[in-house]
Amino acid sequence: MIYGVGIDLVENSRMEKIINKWGENFLHRIFSSGEIQYCGKYVNSSIHYGARFAAKESFLKALGIGMGMGVKLNDIEVVNDENGKPILKLCGEAKSQIEKKKIKKIHLSLTHTKSYSTAVVLLEK
Ligand SMILES: CC(C)(COP(=O)(O)OP(=O)(O)OC[C@H]1O[C@@H](n2cnc3c(N)ncnc32)[C@H](O)[C@@H]1OP(=O)(O)O)[C@@H](O)C(=O)NCCC(=O)NCCS
Repeated sequence: MIYGVGIDLVENSRMEKIINKWGENFLHRIFSSGEIQYCGKYVNSSIHYGARFAAKESFLKALGIGMGMGVKLNDIEVVNDENGKPILKLCGEAKSQIEKKKIKKIHLSLTHTKSYSTAVVLLEK
């Protein structure tokens, strides 16, 4: 049974400006060290950061909650499997919410162009 779906779109130039302005502090507040390592491999890293930011927001939307409602963005991590497929790995309050709501499966898909990054999250009960 579908519990919820969430979608988000990020303008990569905005992400780039924020990263340039706030640097490491911003990155470590929002992204895991694995995500920073993954995105850092790319010349246009803000595209991949944008996609991960969109994934975190999409997860919150699928859950039916917003930012500042207990789940921290760095409790939601995007990990790519050996084929490049992105998977959501949760800890902290994000993991507790999933357990509390009895969500059994999380689906995530990402796409990006130079200008925009987007993510879709589907939660199954
Ligand atoms: C997966 C694929 C369809 C992505 O399409 P694309 O038009 O090049 O790129 P998009 O912007 O739409 O999507 C990129 C995202 O697709 C996701 N992706 C990559 N591989 C994937 C896979 N096997 N399954 C599902 N999603 C995948 C990633 O999240 C990626 O973003 P990220 O690097 O920031 O995590 C395309 O790369 C493909 O067909 N690859 C074939 C498999 C391949 O080349 N594998 C190489 C590693 S073995």
